[in-house]
Amino acid sequence: QRAAMLMAGLVLAACGKQEPPAPAPAPATEASAPAPAPAPAKVYVVGTDAAYAPFESQNQKGEIVGFDIDVVNAIAQKAGFEVKFVNTPWEGIFNSLQQGDRDFLVSAITITDERKQTMDFSNPYFDAHQLIAVRENSKVTKFEDLKKLKVGVQTGTTGDEVVTKLQGKNSTTIKRFESTPLALKELEAGGVDAVVADNGVIENYVANNPQSKFKTVNDASFTPEQYGIAVRKGNTELLEKINQGLAAIKADGTYDQIYGKYFGAKKADAAAAA
Ligand code: ARG
Repeated sequence: QRAAMLMAGLVLAACGKQEPPAPAPAPATEASAPAPAPAPAKVYVVGTDAAYAPFESQNQKGEIVGFDIDVVNAIAQKAGFEVKFVNTPWEGIFNSLQQGDRDFLVSAITITDERKQTMDFSNPYFDAHQLIAVRENSKVTKFEDLKKLKVGVQTGTTGDEVVTKLQGKNSTTIKRFESTPLALKELEAGGVDAVVADNGVIENYVANNPQSKFKTVNDASFTPEQYGIAVRKGNTELLEKINQGLAAIKADGTYDQIYGKYFGAKKADAAAAA
């Protein structure tokens, strides 16, 4: 049979056809047989809501880029696996993990006690907090000032949570958007009076969109948040690989280098905290 296969191969080769790279299983009985080629690295499907610069966004070529992407690529390299990023809307992102459509998520996801009930998180890789964006001429100086104003948030984010807490569950002045950039566009258009979202994203948007004429307002009530990579609950094998890779890139300076690329040379908070 082996001879027949070889013959078939020769015929194919003679026809100029591409032969698939034959794995040629070595007979297990022969000690001298060459070791089988190493199994190809596992490719994990990674979900990310790529409308959250500088953490994840799509460049002009449609490629998913950003701090989170660089961090995960570096982790994957250390931990010996491969990744494929798939743009995944925030509103369905946790479900996509649960259903098995994604193997893990990196999406500037704040580690919260509530989320920990349904998924497992890596060690924290980034420190964040909420921040308010308002138009330059706004009188808002503190979070409390937003109590009765129209506030834009991205549905189901920690920004949504804090504003819902401030205004109450039945508030009619919280405007929920499917992405943070959409909320910020609405702020520019005057449809909302403020947007509350993660500091890194607000700061990035304000810096890169001077024509929007926004300013930022911080508030002492905004508690520290930390981003984690999410895996399905109980997937400890993958979680350990991710944590090992994360520790390795923090130890060898790769994390700091990526941090510097996106946030400048200021102290890499999460790296220092770990
Ligand atoms: N850190 C916030 C949260 O976990 C917002 C994250 C939104 N991420 C995104 N890629 N849209 O709720």
